Amino acid sequence: MDVCIVGTGYVGLSTAVGFAGHGHRVTCVDIDPRRVNDINSGRCPIFEPGMDGSMKSSVGKNLLKATLDLKAAMASSEAVFISVPTPCDDDGRMDTKFIDKASKDIAGNLSGYKVIIVKSTVVPGTTENIVKKNLEAAGKELGTDFGLCMNPEFLREGHALEDFLRPDRIVIGSTDKKAGDLVQKLYDGFNAPVLRTDIKTAEMIKYASNGFLATKITFANEIGNICKPLGIDVYKVMEGVGLDSRIGPKFLRAGCGFGGSCFPKDVQALLSKGREAGYEPKLLETVLETNAKQRKLMVHHLKSKMDLKGKRIAVLGLAFNPDTDDVRESAAIDTVQGLLEHGANVIVYDPKAMENFRKVFPGIKYASSSREALNGADACVIATDWEEFKRLEAKDFKEMKNSIVIEGRRTLDRNKVKSFEGVCW
Ligand code: UDX
Repeated sequence: MDVCIVGTGYVGLSTAVGFAGHGHRVTCVDIDPRRVNDINSGRCPIFEPGMDGSMKSSVGKNLLKATLDLKAAMASSEAVFISVPTPCDDDGRMDTKFIDKASKDIAGNLSGYKVIIVKSTVVPGTTENIVKKNLEAAGKELGTDFGLCMNPEFLREGHALEDFLRPDRIVIGSTDKKAGDLVQKLYDGFNAPVLRTDIKTAEMIKYASNGFLATKITFANEIGNICKPLGIDVYKVMEGVGLDSRIGPKFLRAGCGFGGSCFPKDVQALLSKGREAGYEPKLLETVLETNAKQRKLMVHHLKSKMDLKGKRIAVLGLAFNPDTDDVRESAAIDTVQGLLEHGANVIVYDPKAMENFRKVFPGIKYASSSREALNGADACVIATDWEEFKRLEAKDFKEMKNSIVIEGRRTLDRNKVKSFEGVCW
């Protein structure tokens, strides 16, 4: 099938590369000429495992290309995906400006029946109140000129392509059967249950999923905070809890709080939408508050051990997740901010995310390895569980002035490194 994908962020690119790998002819559209150029040269503009090779292969087979020209891209496509960002505005509500612009542009270039599919995470009502309205305002008729679907993504950064290709489920919300059937056909060959719903339900499934996962993590963190002073290992506790098939073992890794481009903004947007609907979502509010506190806990523990003023503190791990260079809402941001506020000299290291972190904190020291960061440090905190840090051994820490190590993620190998403390274990 011929597919057009508007927006080439993590979601757009994973979708494009995933569908091209399944033999569809995909054209990506973006407003950034550099991105377009990168894609056409077979270079993935973001760091994401597996993407480079798959992108190169699909570009080589003429199954994947990119353009600035929406009209040309749409002309040959049966399906047009919208995968533009949906950030939060200053009031915590979802900002619809990119969805609004993309759907107006699509409406202006629509000729012949096409199915328009929203892949961006949008609060319930957005697809019908913004996308559908913009298409109708341009004189297009639902069912005749266009079909409308909402097909949420469930991709973790660092595993985005793998998650796209091997999903737990495929959710397709549609206004009518014809449009939904076309989207379902795109996923022929995927080994996952397909759930067909109306549009608003599909939109809500995405928020409810992220809200639940964020709550699950926060629950593990809260139990960890109770376990720590009692001398109980929360990881063993969660192993026992997760073996209950009603609960499951995933997303129970306690630590320094969730971050990233999705959980914080999606829980906030769901909270705002609930309030707008006349309901006060207390649980979601508490999840955000508890998580904000959790992200400050590493500095709190360090402060209880030493006066941080003038101390050299090494921060290992700046990305919000391993295998990504994305630092949005990463725990390292709160940690470095807190350390600086207490007058510490901060030196940081991350295998991939230093360039992005430098944009947030240009004035701190950047080391070229963990060893360099740890050399002469009064203390160290670990904020991302990169594989590289899992291989650290006692000898890597021996040049530290004091062997104070606070783990924000369960990273170090307990057989190799003895002297450390978990943020909530
Ligand atoms: C998330 C959802 O998982 C994905 O389905 C959705 O579509 C987008 O948002 P993402 O934010 O990219 O994906 O990564 P994820 O692996 O879910 O991690 C989010 C945050 O939660 C990270 O900061 C991670 O460290 C934290 N986390 C995750 C925990 O603290 N404990 C866990 O057990 C799991």
